[in-house]
Amino acid sequence: MTRGDGKEPDAAVAPADAGAADGPVPRLEADGSLLLSNLPLAPVPAEVEAEGIMFRGARRTHPAPGLPGTITRRDLVWADNLHELIERAKRRQWNAATDIPWAEGRGVGVELERALADVLTWMLQQEYAAWYVPAKFLGRIHPAYTEVGLFLSTQVMDEARHVEVFLKRLYLNGVGLREVAASTESSIKGLLMQEDFARASFLLHVLGEGTFKDLFHLLIEIAPDEATRQIMVRSLEDEARHVAYGVGRLRTQLAAERDPDAVGQAFVDALEARLAFTYEVSGLPRHVQEALAILAGGERGPGATAPGRERVRRFVDELNRNRKERLLQAGFSERVAENISQLHIRSAGGLM
Ligand SMILES: [Fe+2]
Ligand SMILES: [Fe+2]
Repeated sequence: MTRGDGKEPDAAVAPADAGAADGPVPRLEADGSLLLSNLPLAPVPAEVEAEGIMFRGARRTHPAPGLPGTITRRDLVWADNLHELIERAKRRQWNAATDIPWAEGRGVGVELERALADVLTWMLQQEYAAWYVPAKFLGRIHPAYTEVGLFLSTQVMDEARHVEVFLKRLYLNGVGLREVAASTESSIKGLLMQEDFARASFLLHVLGEGTFKDLFHLLIEIAPDEATRQIMVRSLEDEARHVAYGVGRLRTQLAAERDPDAVGQAFVDALEARLAFTYEVSGLPRHVQEALAILAGGERGPGATAPGRERVRRFVDELNRNRKERLLQAGFSERVAENISQLHIRSAGGLM
C-alpha cells in the first residue's frame, strides 16, 4: 500500500486495519466538536507489556523498546468517568491573574487577614503534594492508557494554578507567607516518596483531596472577602474532579479484586508508613483549626470565639463522615472504611 507520496507508511503508525483504504469516520458533535469518545479507538486492554511508546492499537513489525518501571495494568489507573472528567477539566480552566476579583480582597481586618494567611500557608504546602505527585507518575503510565495521562495533565495545571492563586492571596494585603509546620512537611514528604501509583492516588485523590474538597466548602462559607470566596469556589470545582478520578480509579481497582479488603490492608500499611513520617499525629493541625475558628467567628474582636470554634468542631465531624462515605462508595467494607478513616485522622498532620 502506498500513500501517493511514494513513501511506505510507517508500520508503527499504520491504522489497525491496514488492508482497508479508509477506517470508520468519527462523527462530530452537534456543535462541531470532536470528542475522544467518538474515535474508533482500540479497546482499553486489561494489561500490556512494559514496552513500546505508542497509543494502543498500533501495529509494529520491529521489537518494541522496553519501558521498565511502567504501570501496565488497567485496573491500577483507569476510571470509568475519565472521558467526562477530561472534557470538563478543559472547559473549566481559569486564570488566577484575571478571573479573581482581586480588588474585592482588599481592606480585610488584620486579624482575619493573618488567620487566613495561616490557613493558606498550610494549604499551599498541601498543594505542592497535589501538584508533584501526578507529575511524577505521568510518564510512568503506559501510553496504552493515554486518557489517564490526559486527565493527570489537567490536574497538574489545576494544582499549579492553586499554588499561584494562594500565593497571590497571601501577599494581596501585605501579610505573605506564615510559619511552616514541621509536621506538615514531614507528612507531605511521606506522600511525595510513595512509589506505588495506586497507593499514592489513594492517599492523594481520595483521602487528601477529599478533605480539601470539604475544606473548600467551609472556606466558601467563612471567607473574609469576595476574592477569597471566588478562589475557593473555583478551586472546589477543580478539586471535585480530582476526587472523582480518585474514587473512580479506586472502584476500578477494587472491582478487579476478589478480596477488596486486602487492597484496603495494603493502603492501611501505606498510611502507617506515613505515620512514621509525621511527628504530630492529629487531624487538622492545631494552629490551622484556631485560624479557621477565627475566620468562622468573623469580625468579633481578637482570638477565636465560641461560635467560631463550634463551627470548626462541626466541620471536623463533617470531614470524618464524608471520608468514610467516599471509602464505602469506592467499594470498601464498613470495617475497612472505618479502619482507614481512623488511621487517616492520626496521620493527617498534613491532610494529603
Ligand atoms: Fe489543589
Ligand atoms: Fe487537587
